[in-house]
Amino acid sequence: MPLTPPTKRDRVWDALNGDIDRILLSAEQIECRVREMAAEIAGVYEDSEAGLTLIPVLSGSIIFLADLMRELPLKMKLALVHLSSYRGATTESVGTKTVLNLQSDVRGRHVLIVDDILDTGNTLRHVQRMIGEREPESLRTAVLLRKPEKAPKDVHADFIGFDIEDAFVVGYGLDYGDHYRNLPHIGVLRSELMP
Ligand code: IMP
Ligand code: MG
Repeated sequence: MPLTPPTKRDRVWDALNGDIDRILLSAEQIECRVREMAAEIAGVYEDSEAGLTLIPVLSGSIIFLADLMRELPLKMKLALVHLSSYRGATTESVGTKTVLNLQSDVRGRHVLIVDDILDTGNTLRHVQRMIGEREPESLRTAVLLRKPEKAPKDVHADFIGFDIEDAFVVGYGLDYGDHYRNLPHIGVLRSELMP
């Protein structure tokens, strides 16, 4: 078979993937686990009278959210929250820059916070407290990833996709300097690319 030369598109993907040291979770592994999580979550809410509101923490959770919610056979609303504990491209947690932008009232509703990763827990602690103050009927949290070595004891996630090592990961919504979110897998970023 004649070799087809790489297209511009191939080269861009290769460049993105070239910044990855190793793939931790393949697209297939993620897809399979997200489907399992959705089944677990659906089981908890299927008989609930009060409606469900999903609250994704932007931006890292968007791809997880999109895949998860399409596997949930439940009547639901969405309310977006945006906050970030990272400024620019640094990897160190530098306190929470808070923009809680909740367009819908969650009082009396079942709320499921959806986030990409439970790392130091500062973000989730903050979001859980702020949403808890609005008196939802129930409040639970789903995270795709958790770094158990770092996650503090006081921040609880009810649904966890994968426990991973304490390495900086990108892809499937997770970024470094706002890049790499579009990679379909989750990989460890090459250490020389980080300060
Ligand atoms: P926290 O340290 O648990 O507060 O995590 C805050 C946010 O930082 C997460 O929601 C992610 O968006 C981001 N974050 C934490 N660890 C990683 C990582 O390994 N890769 C990419 N983003 C991360
Ligand atoms: Mg995030």
